[in-house]
Amino acid sequence: MKKSTQKLWGGRFTAPTDELVEEFTASINFDKRLYAEDIAGSIAHAKMLGRQQIIPAADVNPIVTGLEQIKAEIERGEFVFSVALEDIHMNIESRLSEIIGSEVAGRLHTGRSRNDQVALDLRLYIRSQLLKVEALIAELILVLVDKAESNLEVIMPGFTHLQQAQPVLFAHHLLAYVEMLKRDLSRLADCRKRLSLSPLGSGALAGSSFALDRESVAAELGFDGVTGNSLDAVSDRDGVAEALFDFSLLMVHLTRFCEELVLWSSVQFNFITLSDSFCTGSSIMPQKKNPDVPELIRGKSGRVVGSLVNLLMTLKSLPLAYNKDMQEDKEPFFDALDTVVGSLRIMAPMIIEMRVNKEVMARQAGAGFSTATEIADYLVRKGLPFRSAHEVVGKVVAFCEVNNLVFTDLTIMQWQEYSDLFSEDLFRLLAPMDAVDAKNLFGGTARKQVQAQIELVRRDLKKGRI
Ligand code: ARG
Repeated sequence: MKKSTQKLWGGRFTAPTDELVEEFTASINFDKRLYAEDIAGSIAHAKMLGRQQIIPAADVNPIVTGLEQIKAEIERGEFVFSVALEDIHMNIESRLSEIIGSEVAGRLHTGRSRNDQVALDLRLYIRSQLLKVEALIAELILVLVDKAESNLEVIMPGFTHLQQAQPVLFAHHLLAYVEMLKRDLSRLADCRKRLSLSPLGSGALAGSSFALDRESVAAELGFDGVTGNSLDAVSDRDGVAEALFDFSLLMVHLTRFCEELVLWSSVQFNFITLSDSFCTGSSIMPQKKNPDVPELIRGKSGRVVGSLVNLLMTLKSLPLAYNKDMQEDKEPFFDALDTVVGSLRIMAPMIIEMRVNKEVMARQAGAGFSTATEIADYLVRKGLPFRSAHEVVGKVVAFCEVNNLVFTDLTIMQWQEYSDLFSEDLFRLLAPMDAVDAKNLFGGTARKQVQAQIELVRRDLKKGRI
């Protein structure tokens, strides 16, 4: 059995740690991502300890400059991370001892535990990462709004059950995703709010007997206040779970769009053409151009939803307060974060470069009896109850289908065989754009309404209201 070296917590131990245990319990390979937050938290803590005269004022400066030096070493790639030192917290503290000596460095951890330290690091990290994700979502919203605006005249079939239903503006379809993304963005901002209390001062689980000034540390680190229960503060991973749910729903939204991009770029639909730079080929079939990017975003959503379930299962039934199980919160979060960031980053340019095949969409918008509801509404306006109007138009559809005709092939006399309420003004309704413009209620697909929505989103984006 291989044994390891002296630990920062080694006082009560008589036998060294087995190397297998070291490797199994260490988190340094992934929690090194928290280095900047860990150092920021330690600096704020050390300064407060000095102000409160809990440690000698003269020790504060060496601790702070030592920590800043460590940060620079990590950023230059010079820092040697050690598995024997378990995690980011002890790697940094141990290096601080090397730089400024163990006498002074040993005072930094006064009134603190790794349990409130890691809770703090995570809160700081998630808050700053969510802001980045929110900015990427806002960028994607803008791309969609631009695409919608430059295609305002493009009409497409709207679907239910993936069967042609009623014509809609392509812009209206894009703006549906904007609505989803707006909610995703506001969910993340909301999640940040609940992460805005500092857990420092909670100690291992019970709080601290030192006269720590929790509020000043919280303020220095950009928090709105401090947590109210030490047991909860060190055991709470709600914010991680919440962020993972928000990421999951965001990814699910992206998969719905990606699925449509895959369908639309098929020969059968041919609604859009993805740029060559966002597709790949086949090693055997020379003609192939595959929509790998939307497919992969669709596929990668599984990792993100999996991460959420992973964390929820880790937290389920855990007794208070800290348990080592909770170290398992980080990898799912980091993996989900990277997946979300990667997906959002690639989505925006893919949409900018995608070509919209207007003629195909317009042709399809008129096919499949897509103006049938419009015609039923026409009869309703002439006094027929809606159910009867529905029946009349249904019969016309059946007649056309049997005879391989479309609505525009029928003469007024043929229409009148089904209802004498039909007159020449019916023909104005048969153009899909008329059907679109007739949906002129707030939130509808009429050009006027869609233009108004575009302006609303732009205004809200500019004001930072989304
Ligand atoms: N690496 C640990 C984690 O991420 C830090 C906290 C360790 N605390 C403890 N009591 N062992 O959860």
